[in-house]
Amino acid sequence: MTRRQLFVTTALPYANANFHIGHIMEYSQADIWVRFQRLQGHEVHFVCADDAHGAPIMIAAEKAGVTPQAFVAGIAAGRKPCLDGFHIAFDHWHSTDAPENHQLSQDIYRKLKAQGLIEVRAIEQFFDPAKGMFLPDRFIKGECPKCGAKDQYGDSCENCGAVYAPTEVRNPYSVLSGATPVLKTSDHHFFKLSDPRCKAFLEQWTHAAGRLQPEVLNKIKEWFSVDEEGKGGLGDWDISRDAPYFGIEIPDAPGKYFYVWLDAPIGYLASLTAHFARQGRNVDEFLADPATEQVHFIGKDITYFHTLFWPATLHFSGRKTPDRVYVHGFLTVNAEKMSKSRGTGIDPLRYLELGLDAEWLRYYLAAKLNDRVEDLDFNPEDFIARVNSDLIGKYINIASRAAGFLAKRFAGRLSTTLGADGEAVITPLQAAAPKLAALYDGREFGKALREVMALADTVNEYVDAHKPWELAKKPEAAAELHEACSTCIEAFRLLTLYLKPVLPALSAKVEAFLQVAPLTWADAGKRLGAHTIGAFQHLMQRVTVEQVEAL
Ligand code: MSP
Ligand code: ZN
Repeated sequence: MTRRQLFVTTALPYANANFHIGHIMEYSQADIWVRFQRLQGHEVHFVCADDAHGAPIMIAAEKAGVTPQAFVAGIAAGRKPCLDGFHIAFDHWHSTDAPENHQLSQDIYRKLKAQGLIEVRAIEQFFDPAKGMFLPDRFIKGECPKCGAKDQYGDSCENCGAVYAPTEVRNPYSVLSGATPVLKTSDHHFFKLSDPRCKAFLEQWTHAAGRLQPEVLNKIKEWFSVDEEGKGGLGDWDISRDAPYFGIEIPDAPGKYFYVWLDAPIGYLASLTAHFARQGRNVDEFLADPATEQVHFIGKDITYFHTLFWPATLHFSGRKTPDRVYVHGFLTVNAEKMSKSRGTGIDPLRYLELGLDAEWLRYYLAAKLNDRVEDLDFNPEDFIARVNSDLIGKYINIASRAAGFLAKRFAGRLSTTLGADGEAVITPLQAAAPKLAALYDGREFGKALREVMALADTVNEYVDAHKPWELAKKPEAAAELHEACSTCIEAFRLLTLYLKPVLPALSAKVEAFLQVAPLTWADAGKRLGAHTIGAFQHLMQRVTVEQVEAL
């Protein structure tokens, strides 16, 4: 098998708040995929960063009475406990405000300009005369032009659902100062996505086999399509913002900054660059290598940026474009959209502080994940049932049922023969490896875990048929008892390997108990044979209703 070279990212979270459970879901999905690839022996560089720039962060910092840099640093400092707590194994965490990103963004911009793809155009926008700044749509409020509802945002009405331009809002006011905004003209820099070269490139890029999920491609076709009136299609992209703005300065354009969505994805490259620099490796060589695969995990709301703007930005600046963009749906809690204002959702840090096992959540999320753009729901009863019946009832029990007898009667030594029945259990378990590998690689984690649990069922049926607790009472059945318990341990080792991408900490405990080297996928083809295991140690607890209620 050739060794793959993977550059994997998750979306860069805005540095204006701590992680929410949706972030943890995205990171878990990517982390499970990455860990699986590593178990295969592939080379993976898994990076992320804080998305530091933009007007909302600038304004939040001002409210907090600190510089945007200090504000972002405060958020960044809180990332590690949460990432470690959920076993998210990024190789590097960076910031889009780091020097690498300033340099890369300006360099990319210059290349786009040299291609003739940047145009400067004057546009009219709302300006807050009291604050002396142009207002992003969501900092303008007023009455809905359709239904007259008060205090509606500058781009849409929560009362009647209408979508409109901020200039249509009646009696508009600035959320920042309360002042009535005035229209003011300013030069903006546009990335000319309407250029026929961009359209031709994106047609080809988006349609490459295996690059995008079918439902994502369908959405893109909608975005590309032009109606009878000539409306729709790819418009030019406004990539500049006027000072004051927390962002990266546009070269040779004083007072102009890159819009946050221009430099945010470039942050993927900045993070990879910093990660390579730390290892003294050349990042340009790695990215220029045709064997390198660039893979982005993102949520459905940011598809447009990642499947149109981002590949175009890279391609026309002479860079490698993403090989695959994997889009996931949204996590809801009790079928409700998470909302900070309504206080719904689960706080990941609180989850950890309450002492809930991070791997319960990883397992539960994985069991619900597939390769489609479907939303998934966290349901407390379902969570308890899955964890207790699958992880404890089906999987952990296999080891606890066998380990005691092995220790007491055989000093931990395994039988080198498993008997015909034992072989009949282990052979299919080993044979499942390629199928499970394909499911993990294809992000069909739910299917993979159902397969693993079906295999665990066959082991439990074997135990119920052989009844080691009865064999233990008959001195003449010692050999049979030895084979039955050894079969359980061999099966447990294989199941642990198959669950290892999802349950990395538990797997490490099992490896210690079994006294084996860290399991890799190749171990599916091996047997323990003449081997002595360690003393059984407590591996995982059941989740209780009280714990979930406390959440
Ligand atoms: N800063 C941008 C991304 C820039 S990428 C170059 C951003 N940040 S975010 O913090 O709002 O979202 C980060 C990621 O979390 C996105 O992929 C987003 O889709 C994902 N999620 C946000 N809410 C989510 C759920 N409720 N469920 C699952 N993922 C969610 O967008
Ligand atoms: Zn309305």
